[in-house]
Amino acid sequence: MNPESNEERHPFLKGLSKHRGAPPTVVVIFGASGDLTARKLVPAIFNLGIDNLLPGEFHLIGYGRKPIEDEAFREMMDAAIEEFSRRPLNKEIWERVRQNISYHAGGYDEAAAFESLAEKINRIEQDLGRDMQRMFYVSTPPSVFEPIIKNIGSSGMAQAHVHTKLASKVIIEKPFGRDLESARELNQAINGVFEEPQVYRIDHYLGKETVQDLLVQRFGNSIFEPLWNREYIDCVQITVAESLGVGSRGGYYDTSGALRDMIQNHTMQLVALTAMEPPVSLDPESIRDEKVKVIKAIQPLNLKAEGGDVVRGRYTKGLVKGEPVEGYMEAEGIPATSTTETYAAMRLAINNWRWQGVPFYIRSGKRMARRASEIAIQFKRPPGILFSEGDKFNVAANTMVISIQPDEGVTIVMNSKIPGLETRTQPVKMHFRYSTTFGSNTPEAYERLILDAMVGDSTLFIRGDETEASWKLVTPVLKHWEECGAHGLQEYAAGSWGPLESERLLWERKHQWRRSG
Ligand SMILES: NC(=O)c1ccc[n+]([C@@H]2O[C@H](COP(=O)([O-])OP(=O)(O)OC[C@H]3O[C@@H](n4cnc5c(N)ncnc54)[C@H](OP(=O)(O)O)[C@@H]3O)[C@@H](O)[C@H]2O)c1
Repeated sequence: MNPESNEERHPFLKGLSKHRGAPPTVVVIFGASGDLTARKLVPAIFNLGIDNLLPGEFHLIGYGRKPIEDEAFREMMDAAIEEFSRRPLNKEIWERVRQNISYHAGGYDEAAAFESLAEKINRIEQDLGRDMQRMFYVSTPPSVFEPIIKNIGSSGMAQAHVHTKLASKVIIEKPFGRDLESARELNQAINGVFEEPQVYRIDHYLGKETVQDLLVQRFGNSIFEPLWNREYIDCVQITVAESLGVGSRGGYYDTSGALRDMIQNHTMQLVALTAMEPPVSLDPESIRDEKVKVIKAIQPLNLKAEGGDVVRGRYTKGLVKGEPVEGYMEAEGIPATSTTETYAAMRLAINNWRWQGVPFYIRSGKRMARRASEIAIQFKRPPGILFSEGDKFNVAANTMVISIQPDEGVTIVMNSKIPGLETRTQPVKMHFRYSTTFGSNTPEAYERLILDAMVGDSTLFIRGDETEASWKLVTPVLKHWEECGAHGLQEYAAGSWGPLESERLLWERKHQWRRSG
């Protein structure tokens, strides 16, 4: 094993990963001149190269509408690594990958360009004298997802090789649809060309270490799982908060909003991993079966203004980290008629044996007090028999907080005696920090995801029925908000923790939001 490989540095990954080595592979990135390719995809490929995790025969073809010379494209990728890679550009290692990088210009709906792409791949295979698996990474805006898939199909590139049976794969970026109907349409278009096991729908949150660690925390320890149910857990709070506003991407964001951008995908994935039953094995389908089951067990949301389960908000000007910032409506590209939410919160009821009666509160917003993604499991309070007299005893509910970003780790809040001759109590925190225990140079989410797709492990990708189950839950909310227009859209000051109305979701069940941090 390479001394710097992931498993060597993180032995606990062994159980979850199946890094058997990928077959000879040609990766085609559609939208290769874009931001994601430069910031994440190519730096991830470079770091896989450093870790000796790329197949011996590896080719990368960038695809896009603008004509770019091969060498100019390689130079763009060099610059991307220099700017965005977590490890500095190692020219010797990179050169081995770099020499097999090329660029193919063509439209996304231009059948002839896909046919010439297929010929190019055939030539690479002939020169090598062997078949290669073809991996198509669709990294364009969603408006061209469908023509790309269709053209991969009609040019014959989705078919498996006859003799070696090496299959093609497609990786699709988010957003996967705008609602249930469009997600179903996209699934149909994809499944008209690829079999489901060939499809890898990205949710990069699943590539994050702490998110994967959730399965290890739950099912690799015997102390948590016996308590992980309605008998001991009072509520679960999931927060995905950003301190940034929409910046220069206001025009795009305004067509999306917090529910589509964060809740339907990332936050629902965190709910599924927190609430799912133990899978029968670590096989991808077993894990994804359990995730789908629990998403389906979430009750339809009550959309009434009074006592309802959903709250939406939009930030106004305020102070973030002491600096004045503008409101959403003042940001570049936001139409004066906008009713897009920059904050959404929900109270979910999971109607199954394990969770009946335990509310799951989820929230996500922009321009919140600080950047924090976390899952907080709040346990029931101990009976107030011994430590309840007067204000001497500050007995808090035990809480387990799994921090996903920025400080990845796990914190347990428990009650302890304050040293002294009197018996007084105070909640204290027990911390585990990833960076302290394992060092801070952990692989980026995209490294793990690209490698998994190459070796055929779909555990950390979203299955078609999973994305539809999640859209089924949130689409009625989107429709309801559309009908209501600005009515019911709450305001919150930038730099706060969201609209006051979101506190109501919890007060009604005698809970309150945890103050993150
Ligand atoms: N950037 C991120 O950090 C990030 C994070 C998570 C997910 N994503 C998702 O990843 C995908 C790619 O993101 P990105 O930021 O790289 O996108 P991008 O820079 O806006 O676009 C990628 C490439 O697609 C082509 N393109 C742009 N607009 C197009 C249009 N209207 N019609 C046809 N082609 C168009 C352009 O290439 P040519 O002009 O050369 O054809 C462009 O360089 C998107 O689905 C995005 O939602 C991005």
